[in-house]
Amino acid sequence: MQLAEVSLESRPVSDDFPSPSEAQVIRRKLSAWFRSHGRELPWRTHPAPYAVLVSEFMLQQTQVATVLPFFSRWMQRFPTLESLARASEEDVLTLWQGLGYYSRARNLHRAAQSVLERFEGRLPQNPEHLASLPGVGAYTAGAIASFAFDLPAPAVDANIARVLARLADLTHPIDSTQGRDFLWEFARRLLPSESGGRAHNSALMELGALLCTPRKPRCHDCPVSTHCHAKDPEAVPRKSPRRKIVPLEENAAWILHDHALLLEQHTGRRAGGLWKLPALASPPTLAPIFQTTYPFTHHKVTLRVFPAPPPPTLPPNQRWFPIHSALDSAPLTAPHRRALSALLAAAENPPAPP
Ligand code: ADE
Repeated sequence: MQLAEVSLESRPVSDDFPSPSEAQVIRRKLSAWFRSHGRELPWRTHPAPYAVLVSEFMLQQTQVATVLPFFSRWMQRFPTLESLARASEEDVLTLWQGLGYYSRARNLHRAAQSVLERFEGRLPQNPEHLASLPGVGAYTAGAIASFAFDLPAPAVDANIARVLARLADLTHPIDSTQGRDFLWEFARRLLPSESGGRAHNSALMELGALLCTPRKPRCHDCPVSTHCHAKDPEAVPRKSPRRKIVPLEENAAWILHDHALLLEQHTGRRAGGLWKLPALASPPTLAPIFQTTYPFTHHKVTLRVFPAPPPPTLPPNQRWFPIHSALDSAPLTAPHRRALSALLAAAENPPAPP
C-alpha cells in the first residue's frame, strides 16, 4: 500500500463534520472492518441483556483479557439476574475478589435487585431508565442500550473517546466539560438512525482497542484514516494536568489468638463490606512485619503491618477468622489480601535460624 493512499489530510474540522453522507460512509467502513477484525467475546457472541450488564460492570477500568475468566465464573455461579439479586453480598464480593474496585460488585448486585423490584426482572431498554440503576452512568447506559438491544445510543468510553477525538482532532482536554460535551454530541452525530447501535459502537470500541491505540496507532491499517483529521494522533486526546500525588500512611495490626486471625470490616462507601487487618491509630515503635504501597485516588498509600496483642473486647465490626481459611472466607481489599498471603506464607516457612 502506498503512503499517499492513506495520507491523513489536515483539513480544519468544521461544525458539521461529518455530514450525514460522510457519517454513513464512515459507518459502513467501520462495520465492514469490524466484521472481519472484531474479536469474538462471550458477551458479543451472546449479547443477552444480563450478560451485557455483567460484562460492562466488569469492564469498567479492567482489561478484556483479565475480565474473561471472571465473566465465565460469574455466569456459572449467577446465571440469571434473579440468581444474582437473591445472592448474599458476601458471596457476591467473594466471587468478585481479584477484580478490584469492589463498589462495582456492590452496585451490580443492587442494580440486579432494583431491576427485579422496579422492572419485573427485565433490564429496561431506555438509556434514561438504565441510568437510574446503581453504578450505571451515561456510558454504561448507552453500552447496554446498544450492545443488548441494538439501539442507536451513544456510548463514549476511553477507547471510543480516543477514536472520536482523533477523527475530529479535538483540541479541548477530554476530561473537560467542553471536551466531554463535544465527544457525546459527535458520537450522536455518527450513529445510525434506527437500529445497528450494537455493531456501530462495537466497531468504534474495537478500533480504539486494536488500531487507534494510545501509543503507536496503526493509522495505515485504519479503515477510516481518510476521514481522520488528527495531525499528530499520539498527541490526541489531550488531558487536563494531573493532580499531585500525596503520600498517606496506613498502619494495621496482625493479631493472632488460638489459630484465629482478627479482621475488621470496612464501613465506608468505597470498600464497605470488605475485610482488612484491624487499623492502628498510630504505628508502634517496632519494625513492621510487612509493608506494601498502593494507589488510592491521588494518594500513594504505604500500608505497614505490626504484630499486636488480642484486645480484651471486640468492636462490632471485628471478627476472628480461622487462620487457614481467612483468605478464602473473607472478601479482602487487594493490599490487605497481599499482606495476609505474605504473612501466612512466612508463618508456614519461617526463616532458618542463623
Ligand atoms: N470495554 C467496555 N465494554 C466493552 C465491550 N463490550 N467489549 C470490549 N471491551 C469493552
